[in-house]
Amino acid sequence: MDFTKVISDKARTIKPSGIRKFFDLANQMEGVVSLGVGEPDFATPWKIREAAIYSIEKGRTFYTANRGLISLRQEISKYYQKYGVTYDPNKEITVTVGGSEGIDIAVRALLNPGEEMIILDPGYVAYEPSVLLAGGIPVRIELEEKDEFRLTPEKLKAAITPNTKVMLINYPSNPTGGFMTKEDYAKIVPIIKESGIIVISDEIYCELSYEKEFCTLASFPEIRDQIVIVNGFSKGYAMTGWRLGYVLANPIISGAMTKIHQYIIMSAPTGAQYGALEGLRSCDNEVEQMRQSYLARRNYITKAFNDMGLKTFLPQGAFYVFPCIRSTGLTSEEFCEALLNDQKVACVPGNAFGEAGEGFIRVSYAYSLEELKIAAEKIALFLKNLEAGKVKI
Ligand SMILES: Cc1ncc(COP(=O)(O)O)c(C=O)c1O
Repeated sequence: MDFTKVISDKARTIKPSGIRKFFDLANQMEGVVSLGVGEPDFATPWKIREAAIYSIEKGRTFYTANRGLISLRQEISKYYQKYGVTYDPNKEITVTVGGSEGIDIAVRALLNPGEEMIILDPGYVAYEPSVLLAGGIPVRIELEEKDEFRLTPEKLKAAITPNTKVMLINYPSNPTGGFMTKEDYAKIVPIIKESGIIVISDEIYCELSYEKEFCTLASFPEIRDQIVIVNGFSKGYAMTGWRLGYVLANPIISGAMTKIHQYIIMSAPTGAQYGALEGLRSCDNEVEQMRQSYLARRNYITKAFNDMGLKTFLPQGAFYVFPCIRSTGLTSEEFCEALLNDQKVACVPGNAFGEAGEGFIRVSYAYSLEELKIAAEKIALFLKNLEAGKVKI
């Protein structure tokens, strides 16, 4: 039997992630130094692990409410108040299986087949498939390095059509490290209000904001109800493997998302919820220590790339730099493949995040300074070899 014929059209036609493709290549080699993974290199703070262990010891091994533990929802509500917006724990908050589920249920709760959804390019790899799986039409806004990959009012205005229903934004950004300040957002708020579009704001990197203060679009009261926030514990709390996130939205949108969540998930993992509760209550210091560590790494790696002649702006958030490699005359994929073959250093081609990422590479600095130094030396050597014509393309 030909099982390719039983796969649904949607599942067959969505493309596998460009990140995966590249890492399958890197995995076949030994001794690869990777700057590819977008995951904290820290273990989850001990207090969080201890609280989860304790919950299991106490036999708290049952489903929670569909929306998640009420105590956790109350803490999430309190947490967002520091960003100037309040959500009702009973009607506006749902705990999800990572930000990943949050993105999926937000898109599915909002989009009808044939409706347009704006996504930013370059952008996180899961966004386009989530639109396609919901039957929507992805419309890409190509961001530019000259704007440090911020969304400008001109670009937003040009992308909105009468068929636009939703837009998904992500600041601080994966893959660029781009950042939107309150002043940047203030320029697009009137357009969002006037057009009536719903904005899904993926704020998963909010804790990893550096010199500039993190701002959520939802803190503008005039559009608060048009915003769906997706967030989670993976990045700021170093909890990727726990699979815990949440969505915040007005009661109607939140109710629709919770209905989908109820059928596909029931409730997020209970032990993880107890851990996250402790994280929000008592781990500010640990989160700050990790942030300081990323900040030192960011400073090192940004300077290292600029010193090598690969132009790299100083990202204000997340844990990625996005060096421009056009000066080498190679495409993003050629650069990454040649670097891997010549020096066994793995980075991700910028075009894995959309066409506007062509000419760039994504480098994660969620690695120790020692590892970053070794990788930077190897990349500098690669560039020398390339210039000397010693690298096979
Ligand atoms: C921008 C962005 N959003 C969402 C996610 C998903 O995170 P999780 O499902 O672990 O919360 C990631 C993970 O890399 C990400 O980079």
